[in-house]
Amino acid sequence: MTDSPAPRRVLYLSRADVVAAGGGSSHLFIEAVERALVLHAEGDVVQPLKPYLRWRPNGHVADRIIAMPAYVGGDEPVAGLKWIGSKHDNHRLGLDRASALIVLNDPDTHYPIALLEGGLISGWRTAAVTALAARHLARRGFGSISCTGSGPVGLMQVTALLEHFDAVEEVHLFDTRPCIAHDAADRLSQRFPGTAVSVAPSGAEAVAAGEVVITATVAEAPWLPFAWLQPGTFLANVSLMDAHDDVYLRADKVVIDDWDQCNREGKTIHRLAQAGLLSREGVHAELGQVLAGFRPGRESDEEIVVLNPMGLAVEDVACAQAVHHRALDAGVGTWLDLA
Ligand SMILES: NC(=O)c1ccc[n+]([C@@H]2O[C@H](COP(=O)([O-])OP(=O)(O)OC[C@H]3O[C@@H](n4cnc5c(N)ncnc54)[C@H](O)[C@@H]3O)[C@@H](O)[C@H]2O)c1
Repeated sequence: MTDSPAPRRVLYLSRADVVAAGGGSSHLFIEAVERALVLHAEGDVVQPLKPYLRWRPNGHVADRIIAMPAYVGGDEPVAGLKWIGSKHDNHRLGLDRASALIVLNDPDTHYPIALLEGGLISGWRTAAVTALAARHLARRGFGSISCTGSGPVGLMQVTALLEHFDAVEEVHLFDTRPCIAHDAADRLSQRFPGTAVSVAPSGAEAVAAGEVVITATVAEAPWLPFAWLQPGTFLANVSLMDAHDDVYLRADKVVIDDWDQCNREGKTIHRLAQAGLLSREGVHAELGQVLAGFRPGRESDEEIVVLNPMGLAVEDVACAQAVHHRALDAGVGTWLDLA
């Protein structure tokens, strides 16, 4: 017998509930992701390799459903799973590429306690990773951002940086579908009227204009060579397929989120490791090690630093937990009976 009965109810939080609970901007997520990544560096998480479910032979790289389970320890431990679908051409149906549910489980009883719409949380946690990384890996006081790919992820990346870095004066967007870039530019200009947001004529021109460069495309093949990066650039290669191998081989520092998670699925790190060109020792650090102070971040204004964020379940679970706590406090959401 336990003191408290096993929970028989699950709190369901729709996207609107997530926003009502404080999930409409990056602030809540930055705190949660930092906590998760420091616990990751301290070894206080459990995170099995995520299985990729694909069933179309030669399908698009972004067509998949991924299961991402994790246990996050610390003072308030929690377990959970993000189940995230991705279809690169959903826009034809007016749908987002990514769709997700996150389940949280009680770490004592293992019962499910919450079910959350996960697309928004997933986008913000990815933006939070870049913003946290920029604190340590970008040039101090950076004034320009470039972002290629202006879908929901690109928009949230730039929004999170603008919410946290006051010195940014210019944003340069590029998307192979120009209307998407112009729409994102309009939204950013409305939200941040003091920042000059423009649409670049090409990916090369966007990249050259940014001290912080973000990829958020659904490119299937690399298009961004090392030669396009200015000294001092911080590149957050969020969409993972965009940077040529020489970016990883010539950058002063390559920072990853988790070696075991990165070194698979034929992604750049995996291919370079298989070819004997990059090893765990060859990358500078995992991001959590930098956040925890175990490894240095940027050490000079001239360094070119690359972040390769595969995306970690611990980030999603910690973010969902933060939203869940806020929702309980605010009385937001719908209770679903398990009995
Ligand atoms: N690393 C992570 O943790 C993480 C997490 C979430 C999403 N992502 C990645 O972020 C990317 C963007 O996600 P999204 O939901 O915004 O997708 P999306 O499909 O809505 O947007 C992608 C945009 O990129 C544009 N595009 C495609 N190829 C391009 C190119 N070569 N140059 C410029 N623009 C190009 C498309 O027109 C589209 O507007 C996806 O690849 C996704 O896998 C990574």
